[in-house]
Amino acid sequence: MSLTTGCRFGLAAVLALALGVVAAPSTAAAQDDAQVTFTRDVAPILQRSCQECHRTGSIAPMSLLTYEETRPWARSIREKVVTRTMPPWYIDRNIGVQGFKYDYSLSDEEIATVAAWVDDGAPRGNPADMPPPREFRDIAEWKIGEPDWVVEIPEPFVVAAEAPNWWGNLESESGLTEDRWIKAVETKPSIDGFPVVHHAVTGMVNEDTEDTSGIGDFLNEYALGKNGDIFPDGTGRLIKANSKIRFNMHYASIGVETTDRTRVGLQFYPQGVVPERKLISAHVGDDEDLDIPAGASNVRHDGYYRLKENSRITAFQAHLHNLGKRQCMEAIYPDNSKEILSCADWDFGWHIVYNYEDHVAPLLPRGTILHVTSWHDNSEANRWNDDPTNWAGFGQRSSDEMSFAWVSWYELDDEAFEKELAEREALHADNDE
Ligand code: HEC
Repeated sequence: MSLTTGCRFGLAAVLALALGVVAAPSTAAAQDDAQVTFTRDVAPILQRSCQECHRTGSIAPMSLLTYEETRPWARSIREKVVTRTMPPWYIDRNIGVQGFKYDYSLSDEEIATVAAWVDDGAPRGNPADMPPPREFRDIAEWKIGEPDWVVEIPEPFVVAAEAPNWWGNLESESGLTEDRWIKAVETKPSIDGFPVVHHAVTGMVNEDTEDTSGIGDFLNEYALGKNGDIFPDGTGRLIKANSKIRFNMHYASIGVETTDRTRVGLQFYPQGVVPERKLISAHVGDDEDLDIPAGASNVRHDGYYRLKENSRITAFQAHLHNLGKRQCMEAIYPDNSKEILSCADWDFGWHIVYNYEDHVAPLLPRGTILHVTSWHDNSEANRWNDDPTNWAGFGQRSSDEMSFAWVSWYELDDEAFEKELAEREALHADNDE
């Protein structure tokens, strides 16, 4: 059925990956200087996928810019990389749509390279092979360009030199006195605060907001390695007059007292202009009847959400609390055929939004049901579990559990939807040749 083309392409990508894996060892063996070295083989991988976080002044505990800095961590790097704990990117690569924006995860081939390097004694190699250092973006700069409107957290937030991780919501008045359509949005720590801001998600709250405990209506996510969101032409997100901005923050100490003042910057469509396509973000598949027995390691719950209109899904993010383990989102089409769109493992330390690449973003006809399945781990194997001897259920505190997905999409009328489907078909026909 034509609706599944998003995934057909996904499968092709997976196949290509698998072929890459098969090809890797033979190519390596064919080379004379088969030894994997830091300067030639490993440094480029670290530059692309690790250094944004692993450099002095950023959020990770150690810098991985040079051989000297990296060598002492070789064993630990091998372990984290082979288990796909690092870089933090937990989408399932074997099922569902493949192709995400800001994807810094490693290919199977890159993982094999890192493992081989460590197994071989982590040699430096020829210094002349070392790539030029990566240039990092200026953190003072707005990636979306100068914003029209900036809202900060209510007051500077001080993170002590040594303190447990802090998760929580901070809220500020937006000061907007009229409804505006957002064209671009970026959430950004202050320059000094940057190393302690592990993660930040912003949302809008007004008198219609039903979600009293969460972030309100999703606005933007800040995570290292991501840029702000500049919506495609004619696409926008509404911020209502007198909305508050809620900042869901995750602060982590870095050994020095540090003060942050995270803010969100907005660019608007001109006054009175209503974009053709309205970006929606919503809780999908909420299940508030959770029953997670003490010690149980794999407890499943299901929730459902019916799409009222033809929709193009732009992003998927699992939302679970400490005991979360994994979540999948499936489309149940109006003809009852089914397709898994995405599955992602969950680690409470990382709240990652997976933004679909434009050419694979699922196109779902009106009436499609999004089926969200979540698994929780209440055993002691879960490092975030404070008390495996306790039953857990639904609730608003972070010691309670939740189960839903944050999904973003925009709606399309029949004509626009047919057009997008046809374009998708054509694209995949080209790719299949
Ligand atoms: C998005 C930011 C980010 C990226 C990208 C990232 N890391 Fe990390 N890494 C962290 C943070 C933060 C920690 C501290 C532990 C935690 O919070 O999970 C960490 C921890 C680690 C550790 C364990 C350190 C210890 O104290 O034992 C290793 C090893 C590691 N990372 C290696 C890597 C490698 C190798 C890459 C790239 C292939 C990478 N990381 C990519 C942020 C990142």
